[in-house]
Amino acid sequence: MDREALRMVCSPQFWRMGVLWTLSLLYSYLLLFLRGRTAAPRRREDVRRGGRPICVVTGATSGLGRAAAAALAREGYHVVLAGRSAQLLSETAKEIRRQQPDACLEAFQVDLSSYRSIKKFEASLNQWIWDSNLEPSIQLLINNAGMLAKSHRVTEDGIDEVMQTNYIGPFILTSILLPLLKNSPVPSRVVNLTSFTHRCVSEIDVSEEALQGVKFGQHSVGGSYPLASTYEYTKFCLLVFSYELHRQLNISSGISVMAADPGVVETRIMRELPPCLSRFAFFILRTLNLLQQPDTGIGAVLDAALAPPEASGKYFFGGKGRTIRSSVLSYDIEVAKKLWAASSALLRDLRLRDRESRTGRTSL
Ligand SMILES: NC(=O)c1ccc[n+]([C@@H]2O[C@H](COP(=O)([O-])OP(=O)(O)OC[C@H]3O[C@@H](n4cnc5c(N)ncnc54)[C@H](OP(=O)(O)O)[C@@H]3O)[C@@H](O)[C@H]2O)c1
Repeated sequence: MDREALRMVCSPQFWRMGVLWTLSLLYSYLLLFLRGRTAAPRRREDVRRGGRPICVVTGATSGLGRAAAAALAREGYHVVLAGRSAQLLSETAKEIRRQQPDACLEAFQVDLSSYRSIKKFEASLNQWIWDSNLEPSIQLLINNAGMLAKSHRVTEDGIDEVMQTNYIGPFILTSILLPLLKNSPVPSRVVNLTSFTHRCVSEIDVSEEALQGVKFGQHSVGGSYPLASTYEYTKFCLLVFSYELHRQLNISSGISVMAADPGVVETRIMRELPPCLSRFAFFILRTLNLLQQPDTGIGAVLDAALAPPEASGKYFFGGKGRTIRSSVLSYDIEVAKKLWAASSALLRDLRLRDRESRTGRTSL
């Protein structure tokens, strides 16, 4: 074990991951066992009515995103692979086409930790839809991209990188793509990839400052970055956002919003941790029979993507169409309203700053 791994093993955040995360996962399985509800079986016909449906999968170049993109292509979707690396996007498309030669795929670069990049993605997506003579709409958005970081890094927008990639980015992307989802002639959907780790969040500050991850940066000065708490907080915010968006849109809008929790899946999510620690964690989880591979881990994601619209606002976990309750705090409407207000204010600031940097005009 090298010095970095040893330092991490001695940190409270490592034990938080090892103990609290495992307990949260076991609690989720207990809920599944006691009162997991099966949503109505997956439905496909309604989205196919208007021709080949289009779905956008973020973080499609690895793990769950890659597996979900392949599975949705098999389901007949025209899949828009969204990822930050052009090379990985091309390799992913090649790999999916190797297994499914007639898969309909399109690849676009987007970095969820950059407002400018998301705007560029929106423009390219609209341009492609226009050039291809397609209906100006999309049917499914899967907010899958996510990360776990070992240090506090600040994005070009001045936000903690994990915070922006895991929550602010998906919030912005969803807001920006809502017109295309609303324009769909058939029911459309947003699926947000959350995690059982949201259960570890017991008190919450959802101010604009907190959303920028200022607190996480302060912790890391002279100490270690709170990698576990930051990740849990971002997944909690994404979950609360899913419920609030569901409430605001309501079923008559034609857009349903689901949260999907895959459980624990062997992917590259722990890539920033010392390899010996991630190998050890996967070994323990495998021994406990809790570790899944991406192909099976996407069960909850596909359930959420293909469930009937009436299942909007549900938390999918455990596959086989099953849903459970998320943490009590995640259903707090006051928290949801505050989070929505702070996220919208942050989005307004980013829009303004972007306009100013393009026009050179400063608002006083
Ligand atoms: N694995 C689990 O046990 C587990 C459990 C619960 C929830 N989840 C959630 O599932 C989702 C997928 O994670 P995974 O386990 O499949 O991990 P992964 O293998 O590391 O895949 C993460 C994907 O997100 C992309 N990504 C990261 N930062 C990005 C950014 N700034 N802009 C655009 N894309 C970015 C990565 O792109 P690159 O390929 O370019 O790196 C990669 O394609 C995450 O939201 C995660 O929180 C995972």
